[in-house]
Amino acid sequence: MSMSNADLPHNGDIRTFDALCAITGIEECDFSRLLDRPRPLNMERQRSCDERSLHELSISLSPQPPSRTAEYSSRVIDHLEYSFSPGRRSGFNTPRSHLGFEPHPMVAEAWEALRRSLVHFRGQPVGTIAALDNSEEELNYDQVFVRDFVPSALAFLMNGEPEIVKNFLLKTLRLQSWEKKIDRFQLGEGVMPASFKVLHDPVRNSETLMADFGESAIGRVAPVDSGFWWIILLRAYTKSTGDTSLAELPECQKGMRLILSLCLSEGFDTFPTLLCADGCCMIDRRMGVYGYPIEIQALFFMALRCALLLLKQDDEGKEVVERISKRLHALSYHMRSYFWLDLKQLNDIYRYKTEEYSHTAVNKFNVIPDSLPEWIFDFMPTHGGYFIGNVSPARMDFRWFCMGNCIAILSSLATPEQSIAIMDLIESRWEELVGEMPLKVCYPAIESHEWRIVTGCDPKNTRWSYHNGGSWPVLLWLLTAACIKTGRPQIARRAIELAETRLLKDNWPEYYDGKLGRYIGKQARKSQTWSIAGYLVAKMMLEDPSHLGMIALEEDKQMKPLLRRSNSWAF
Ligand code: GLC
Repeated sequence: MSMSNADLPHNGDIRTFDALCAITGIEECDFSRLLDRPRPLNMERQRSCDERSLHELSISLSPQPPSRTAEYSSRVIDHLEYSFSPGRRSGFNTPRSHLGFEPHPMVAEAWEALRRSLVHFRGQPVGTIAALDNSEEELNYDQVFVRDFVPSALAFLMNGEPEIVKNFLLKTLRLQSWEKKIDRFQLGEGVMPASFKVLHDPVRNSETLMADFGESAIGRVAPVDSGFWWIILLRAYTKSTGDTSLAELPECQKGMRLILSLCLSEGFDTFPTLLCADGCCMIDRRMGVYGYPIEIQALFFMALRCALLLLKQDDEGKEVVERISKRLHALSYHMRSYFWLDLKQLNDIYRYKTEEYSHTAVNKFNVIPDSLPEWIFDFMPTHGGYFIGNVSPARMDFRWFCMGNCIAILSSLATPEQSIAIMDLIESRWEELVGEMPLKVCYPAIESHEWRIVTGCDPKNTRWSYHNGGSWPVLLWLLTAACIKTGRPQIARRAIELAETRLLKDNWPEYYDGKLGRYIGKQARKSQTWSIAGYLVAKMMLEDPSHLGMIALEEDKQMKPLLRRSNSWAF
C-alpha cells in the first residue's frame, strides 16, 4: 500500500480497517479502497473490476444517452460518501433508494417482514428467527441460526444498524464458552452453535438462552460452518462500521483463536483441506457432502483470511497468524489445482491413466475416468468452469454447488480468471442453475439408486427438491455479490427480476422444487427470513456496490510473507 500514515482515515482515535491492513502489510481489497475513499471516477482509465461494475450499473440504471453518465457518476460518488460514514442510519424503517429511484414495492414489504423476525433477549435484539411460519411444525425453525443470520446481519449493516450484529456476535461468543456435550462426549472448546433460542419463563419473568451445537439437530450434524461465518461476520461488522474495538476485545480474540484451533491442529491429514462429516453446513442432511465439501473449504479459506485481518499479533495470536498464513498458501494451491474443472481439465481427467505411483503421478488422486458422470460432458461449456463439490482419493464429486463457488469468488480463493469462468458458466447454464427461480443449491439432482445410497432414502431430499437440486432464494445475495465483484451486475439483475415475479406473492418460501424451480418446495417454510434478507442484501448491493467491501476480499497477490507484518496492531 502506498498510503502515508497521514492519509489514513480515522474514526475517532481508532484507525479504520484499511489502515489496519496497511499496518499488517496485507493487501486488502483494491476495489474496496476505491469504494471506501470516494474520488472522482476517471472513465478513461484502465478500469478495475469494481469500477467496471459501477460503470455498467450506471448504464443500465439510467437509460440515458452516454453524456448523462458523468452526472450519474457524481451521484454515485455522493452516495458512496454517504454510505461509508460509519454508523449513519437511514432514519427510516424502510430505507428509500439513496440514488433517488423509487425502490421496488417488495423492498418495503421485505423490511417489514425482516423486522418482524427480530428476536430479543433481555430487551436487546440479538438475531432473527429462521422462519415465522406457524402453519408448519416448528421443529427448530423458531431458532436463530448462525448461518441464516448472516444475510440479516448484512442487511442491517448496510442500513446503518450495526447494534444487532454486535449483540449477536457477543451473545454467540458467550454460547461458545458453554460446556458442550453429546451424550458423554465433550465437543471442542471452539465449536460455535448451529442455532440458539430465547426461553421465556413467565413465572420468574426471566429469559435464558438455549443453544444447539448439534446435540439436538436432526442427524446430530456438526455445524462446522458456524465458526467460519462468525469470523466472517466480525470482519463485516468491523469493515462496515470502522469500529475495531469489538474485534479487539480479548474475548473476541480468544473466540477466534478457539475456532481456528479446531481446524489448524496437526493430524494425519495429507491435504490442506478440512475433513468433515456429512451435513456440516447449509446442506445439513446426508447428501454426500462428507469428506472435503466445497462449501466448507471456501468458508474455511475466507474465515482464515478474515482472521488474519482481525487477529492481534500478541503472544497468543502470533503463532495462530503464522499457521494461518501457511495454511492459506497450501489451501489455495490445492483448491485452485485440484478442485478446479473446466473443459481442458475435464478432457485431461477423461484421458487419465490410473494406478500411478510416486510424486510424478499426474492423476494424483487415482480417479478412475469411468467414474465421470454422463451429464458432465454436456454441462461443461466451452468457456467457463467451476470448483467441483469434493476431491478425495479416487473420488471427485462433480456436482456444482452454488454457495461454495460464490464464496470462492468473494474470498478470492478463485483467481480472477477462475472467477470470470464461474460467471461464464452461470451465464451459459442459466436454465439449469437459475431456471425460473434463483438459485440451484446444487446441480444436478441425484436420483433412483444413487439417491437411495447417497441420502439414505431421504424423503425430504428427493430429486430436484430441498438440498437435492432445489432452488434457494437466499443464494441471491451471494450471486449478486459475486456478480458485482466480477463486474457483471447485469447477471444479478436478471436473477433478481426473476425472484421479484414470485417471492412476495409466494410469501418468501425457503426453497422451490423442480428442474426449473417452478414449484414452491414440498416442505418449504414460508416467511423464511434468509429468503427475505437475501433479497434485501442483493437489492442494496446492486444499488450501492460499495457495500461489497464488507463481504469480499481482493486477491492477496503474493500472500505476503509474515516478515512484513508488524508485531502488533499498534493502534
Ligand atoms: C434447514 C437448512 C439449513 C438452515 C435451517 C434453518 O435445516 O438446511 O441450512 O440453516 O433450515 O433455516
